[in-house]
Amino acid sequence: MPDLIVIGGGAIGLSVAWRAAQRGAAVAVADPHPGGGASHVAAGMLAPVSEAQLGEPELLALGIASWRRYPEFIAELESLAGFGTGYARCGSLMVARDADDLALLDRELRVRQQMRLQVERITAAACRELEPSLAPSIRAGMFAADDHSVDPRRLLRALLAACTASGVVLLPERARLVIDDRVRGVMIRGTRYDATSVVIAAGAETGRVEGLPEHLRGLVRPVKGQILRLAQAEPTLLRHIIRGAEGYIVPRADGEVVVGATVEERGFDEQITAGAVHQLLRHACELVPDAAELRFVEVSAGLRPGTRDNAPLIGRTDVDGLLMAAGHHRNGILLAPVTADSVSALATGDAPPVEAAAFSPLRFGGRSMVSA
Ligand code: GLY
Repeated sequence: MPDLIVIGGGAIGLSVAWRAAQRGAAVAVADPHPGGGASHVAAGMLAPVSEAQLGEPELLALGIASWRRYPEFIAELESLAGFGTGYARCGSLMVARDADDLALLDRELRVRQQMRLQVERITAAACRELEPSLAPSIRAGMFAADDHSVDPRRLLRALLAACTASGVVLLPERARLVIDDRVRGVMIRGTRYDATSVVIAAGAETGRVEGLPEHLRGLVRPVKGQILRLAQAEPTLLRHIIRGAEGYIVPRADGEVVVGATVEERGFDEQITAGAVHQLLRHACELVPDAAELRFVEVSAGLRPGTRDNAPLIGRTDVDGLLMAAGHHRNGILLAPVTADSVSALATGDAPPVEAAAFSPLRFGGRSMVSA
């Protein structure tokens, strides 16, 4: 009997499973498509600095705690998997093209300075020194050296390899929760798998997990993102993450260039639209005209798991043995290491990192919400 079953095999679920197995737990992951979902679509920015928002100090602290864990997390994963994950300490450059962009850039700069984050306002010439391919119309930039990136698809493959190497059992099926006075395990195609604890790490699908109590169903909503993948024969076009007013460009050492992303409140809609492709390409080419010369590889849509306060749900629920690792919205890849440490610690009876305390799923109320 597993000690722990994780429902959901994206970056969060696999990281939780791997870390729990390292703590000596017998772990299984249930997911019809492990290594898929929003993690497979994500750009892989590890950007607590440029994604920081005023009024979200706890989320910033959580992001930084996870960002600090990344080098060791990646080193362990790569040595277990035997291949690279595209982890790059690249820095990000937010650029301004016109007066509106400049006003936005200065607002973003002030916010980060108030939060004592390491950012630097740089001139147009300095922007082009960092990135010679930027459009001549770029007027200034904000450089955040501490923003990094990873290739989420390589990361997922490495996590799958690490899980397998650590004895995690993969159940490539949809699971239904079994709960009476506490969680008992899951049911898969008529077979019951008992477990001491179950972790819901089902991303935007969280509310659709069968058997999940009513009061936990509405906590996560899908937030659609459409994203492009382009390719360059030689990785020479860009070296840093480039951010503009409407999106971002993430280059990789292997030549992949990711252009993201729309943010759309459309429920469970994963349709690709011509308008989104147009908008993303137009914005990318305005920032980096030579992007128009790149090979078009892919357009995809994913569903970010958003919560009411757009912060994650990490920790125990009010159902004995049932934990959540969901709702990571724009930051699932960044927050995987700290979420894994938190939930695997809780599931094995240890204390989680302090930064996770603010993200209890119980902050939105418990069972009483339903009867109230
Ligand atoms: N983290 C970037 C995005 O969600 O588009």
